[in-house]
Amino acid sequence: MAKITVVGSISTDFIIQTDKRPQVGETVEGKDFSTAFGGKGANQAVAAARLGAEVSMIGTVGKDTFADELLGNLKASGIFTGNVERVTELPSGSAVITIKEGDNAIIYIPGANNALTAERIGQLQPDLKTNDLVIVQNEVPVAAIEELVRVCTEVEVPILYNPAPARGLSAEAIEQVRFITPNETEFEVLFPGEKMEDVLAQYPNKLLITAGSQGVYYHDGTQVKLVPANKVEPVDTTGAGDTFNGAFAVAWSAGLSIEESIRFGNLAASLAIQKMGAQTGIPTLEEMKRSEKYEKTWNLK
Ligand code: RIB
Repeated sequence: MAKITVVGSISTDFIIQTDKRPQVGETVEGKDFSTAFGGKGANQAVAAARLGAEVSMIGTVGKDTFADELLGNLKASGIFTGNVERVTELPSGSAVITIKEGDNAIIYIPGANNALTAERIGQLQPDLKTNDLVIVQNEVPVAAIEELVRVCTEVEVPILYNPAPARGLSAEAIEQVRFITPNETEFEVLFPGEKMEDVLAQYPNKLLITAGSQGVYYHDGTQVKLVPANKVEPVDTTGAGDTFNGAFAVAWSAGLSIEESIRFGNLAASLAIQKMGAQTGIPTLEEMKRSEKYEKTWNLK
């Protein structure tokens, strides 16, 4: 069983479904409101756990009642939460999400997620070094991410860096991670003014650009390839990228090739977006196996 640690955000999503987003100064009537478990880190951890990995989470929550629920949800998904710290001075992370015609717009409020320090990451090096892969995204402080890259590189544990939401990272850290998985907007921020084809060729088998309903671009060492997304009618695309990252990590850690792992990630994401909520639709491995798109040769357990 692949062993994966996710370092990242754990948040509550406040979801508004609407036919119209308001302009400044305007009030519109929405269709529905709900809360759901979210945070890019937690979503990726849940994806990896549902798909069969042994998952541990590193992050920070508050001491509010949201934190109890957030931790309970991770534990219920079989995720080890012993390295999730509770801090008093900040509320647990949250996000306000508006969904219109299946697509989302998000305001993220880091709260306690921003309390993760480089020092704490350094202290956790013994736990980090036993992993097949470590995943991190941008909803925690950049200093913690750069220290994570440093300590994992020191103990030769590969890192999948999902640069979401868009933000820069030191050139040194970018060189050291095993995988970088921006979407097209995040790519522009990480590599401003550069052509996608050129940067893909510069980082063969490392840079995976997720392009929504098109699929995923990468360079296989010889040429740029597009691994097409599965065509489905989305109900809610929130967390599609997170599901892709968690699923890709499980497949690659289990020994599948990069291209097979991308196809596995694409299938998981296509199933996830058919339900409302970032985590609700994330499939289990059994649900993946029931899909006609599941490839027998993947042989995941
Ligand atoms: O990627 C989706 C996630 O980003 C949501 O669950 C929300 O928490 C936001 O931060």
